[in-house]
Amino acid sequence: MSDNAAIVARSLASVWHPCTQMKHHERWPLLPIARAEGAWLYDFDGKRYLDGVSSWWVNLFGHANPRIQAALADQLTKLEHIMLAGATHQPVIELSERLGKLTGLGHAFYASDGASAVEIALKMSFHYWRNRGRPEKCRFVGLEGGYHGETIGALGVTDVAIFRDAYGPLLTPQIRVAFPGDVDAAIAELAALLKERHHEIAALIVEPLVQGAAGMRMYSPLYLKMARTLCTQFEVHLIADEIMTGFGRTGTLFASEQADGAGNARADFMCLSKGITGGYLPLSCVLTTDEVYGAFYDDDTARGFLHSHSYTGSALACRAALATLDIFESDDVIAANAVKALRFDAIAAPLRQHPLVSNYRRCGMIWAFDYAKPYAGFARDFFLAAELRGLLLRPIGASVYFMPPYIVNEEEFALLVNGSLQILEGLPGQ
Ligand SMILES: Cc1ncc(COP(=O)(O)O)c(C=O)c1O
Repeated sequence: MSDNAAIVARSLASVWHPCTQMKHHERWPLLPIARAEGAWLYDFDGKRYLDGVSSWWVNLFGHANPRIQAALADQLTKLEHIMLAGATHQPVIELSERLGKLTGLGHAFYASDGASAVEIALKMSFHYWRNRGRPEKCRFVGLEGGYHGETIGALGVTDVAIFRDAYGPLLTPQIRVAFPGDVDAAIAELAALLKERHHEIAALIVEPLVQGAAGMRMYSPLYLKMARTLCTQFEVHLIADEIMTGFGRTGTLFASEQADGAGNARADFMCLSKGITGGYLPLSCVLTTDEVYGAFYDDDTARGFLHSHSYTGSALACRAALATLDIFESDDVIAANAVKALRFDAIAAPLRQHPLVSNYRRCGMIWAFDYAKPYAGFARDFFLAAELRGLLLRPIGASVYFMPPYIVNEEEFALLVNGSLQILEGLPGQ
């Protein structure tokens, strides 16, 4: 038995893997990873794989990044973690100050995963209206195709059937509006909804510019700008779920910035996670306005936001986030990515023009396209063919996407493009 096979056998006997029908692993093996460096993952038999999906959209500056590791090593000598209720520490303060400056929001509230940040934003919004004497504002509006995580509240505003349907009876019914493929029509629908039902609606939650789990569906920043105006007009909060889009993925530090130059799409709540620690440690954060914070600030304990998680604001995770922000600053990553993305566009040109490719699209550092002749097993076939070629790519339905760490170079990006072309041309029926 190879080292890979032994590790896979142990994993299948002991680990329940996420987002997986475990029985499928009888036929499609797990990818056993021994170590990783830069954009490359190495298995136990020494074969390497290019991480084309940034390890589920979290890794920004490569695996084994020396700068993030040095910061963590230093933090380990000082403080790993303390409870954040009734106590505080330097990394969480510095991170909150810096995120506040970067977003124009503040009062950073921490958790560990994206879904927890979404739960926090939903609860805060509802509780804000309750504290303001309007408890009837308790419904949430989400976009068709929206994805916000797997916990019960987050699934309630999620619209991806495969994740949601089994739990339907557990979920509070929420309101769904059209994906803004046609901005005018989507805004007209939102306006009509808010006009009629604003008295019962707490917030609209969106993934700004790109719906990730729905298959990298991209839409115009104009929608965000107009939705912001409507939310203000009808006294409904706007929650920007920037868990996937944040930290440079869409070409700006936060996708919401693109609504216009003056930041007018600023949300009432911004949810951050994934890239926040450069892919090193679980951390999520909700930032909000002084107005929201003020509604909780009171002598009465019950009017406070009593939500908590044991690892809230972990010092180690905050330190990884600070090191990540340092890299953004010192390497002028947003500007460098803009130049890099144009070069990558040229490399991807053969894909864009290929007869088996439809709906080619890019936003910032996300490239996506659809297979023009989709069939039921396409995503799995593509994934396995990519793995054979040493590429980690996980299509969503018929949509293939590249979301590499920002440190990939032109040769590595070309491997993703050329590998994908070969795979498409070798699929059954071609
Ligand atoms: C937009 C968005 N929101 C929320 C989540 C949930 O984050 P987590 O998986 O860390 O709970 C994700 C994860 O993919 C996401 O893409």
